[in-house]
Amino acid sequence: MRWAKVSFVRRIKKRWRGEVRDVRRDELMNLIAAQPAHIKPRAASAPRLAGGLVRRGAQWLTNPYGLLDEALQSVGLTFRARLPVLGDALFTGDPELLRTIITGRDFDAGTPISALRALLGSRSLIMLHGERHAARQQMVAALFRGPAAQAVLPWMIEQTRREVQRLDVHKSFSAYDLVQRVLLRTILAALFGVAVAEQAEAERLVQRFLHSFRSPLVLFIKPLRFDVGPLSPWGRAMRNRRKLCAFIRQQIDQNRRVDNGTMLSQLLAASAGNDSWSDEDTVEEVLSLLLFGHDTAAAAMAWALVHIFSDPAVVAAAEQEAHDWRRHSALEPEDLTWLPACVQESMRLCPVVVHLSRRAVVDTQLGEIPVTRGDMVIPCTYLAHRNPSVFTEPVAFRPERFLNGRRYDGAYFPFGFGGRTCVGKPFVLRQMPLMIATILASARLQLAAGYTPQPTRRMVLIAPRSGALFSFRRSADPFAKR
Ligand code: HEM
Repeated sequence: MRWAKVSFVRRIKKRWRGEVRDVRRDELMNLIAAQPAHIKPRAASAPRLAGGLVRRGAQWLTNPYGLLDEALQSVGLTFRARLPVLGDALFTGDPELLRTIITGRDFDAGTPISALRALLGSRSLIMLHGERHAARQQMVAALFRGPAAQAVLPWMIEQTRREVQRLDVHKSFSAYDLVQRVLLRTILAALFGVAVAEQAEAERLVQRFLHSFRSPLVLFIKPLRFDVGPLSPWGRAMRNRRKLCAFIRQQIDQNRRVDNGTMLSQLLAASAGNDSWSDEDTVEEVLSLLLFGHDTAAAAMAWALVHIFSDPAVVAAAEQEAHDWRRHSALEPEDLTWLPACVQESMRLCPVVVHLSRRAVVDTQLGEIPVTRGDMVIPCTYLAHRNPSVFTEPVAFRPERFLNGRRYDGAYFPFGFGGRTCVGKPFVLRQMPLMIATILASARLQLAAGYTPQPTRRMVLIAPRSGALFSFRRSADPFAKR
């Protein structure tokens, strides 16, 4: 298996060094971003991004990648801008300034938008600060490294295979929808057990809650958040929240009676004897884990599939690895190398979380730029990931950048950084290549004819339009059986 993998990776490398270019890939890259020709050097004061508030605001809400591409070209990696939700903020993708934010104590996580507080409550990890946050981070991160999270992966592979088998070979389908269903079931299975995940009721409760605030307007525009009965969007969201919380409370009671090795049992055991912990802390923590992870990973996987299928050589290497993995491996994530690199490179080009947010807790400096206490600073994933002095040909999709465990500290952070790094990171970095390998080993696919993957906002995430549309390749057996 190894030699086949090595020869494919070599072919890919040769291809990138050579002059051969793939038309579809070039079209995709033009669509997603303009190549930054040069980046302006850092200045003592941050330039302000030009453009009227209304135009910039609309652009930010509909196509933040477009706005950031323009900023990269016109003002560089660090600038000030006034934008909806964020207000007046200092953006930076400069690795040196980012390292100052990561290593120093002058910046704290910004306050999450008020709608998120209303939806999630104020007790879960993402809402906490200081020592309470640090202690909770440790506790929740341990769940994703624990046995329940690992044990669910073979079940997830089987669920993915079944979902692919259920597809109609004559119709196109949304990759996002397919993987989102499996990812939701997987987090349900990890939290509550496989038996619960197999009941449609649990899935329906979470999906309903998520759909009730699908429109970003409800999240961002406060006056729309009035509960005037079940017909109003906010009223619906609040009712769906109550139903989901009642379901979580039921699961807490059951897991307290019998330790069935789930993440919820682990959480209950870890919090037992802690006087400042109540069942409502468990409810809100579980609620936030149910809501955060699967949508984010689904959007990231939709992008990864778009990037892989936009270059025939990358697809060929990816399909080869997926088939070898299915035939010769015990379906372990460690037996994949090319697909994890594809996922990492895709998250570099199209980070689904475009930026983090931090607030200065003292008067300070970022490089030579003065920052006043209370100022909003935006460590910008998208800008940092397209910095040509770190990533040569930054708009090209080159998975080999991430082969052999190569890291780009301070310049690559799709999962955030420091004490606020995403707790789901180790879990999804195993999950995503496994699911993509399963999909590629189960069906012969292609991007749907005429489909163009414009970046589109899905609440706070940026995903490819329609969640990336795929169709089956015309062949005797569209369900791959090599
Ligand atoms: C590809 C998938 C994912 C991406 C790209 C992603 C990205 C991120 C980012 C950028 C942050 C913010 C870090 C910061 O503010 O500095 C974050 C935080 C967080 N993520 Fe993820 N995430 C993913 C999957 C997941 C999953 C699967 C879960 C759990 C089921 C999860 C749970 C969380 C939580 C609870 C936080 C808050 C951490 C804290 O405030 O300390 N994420 N994630």
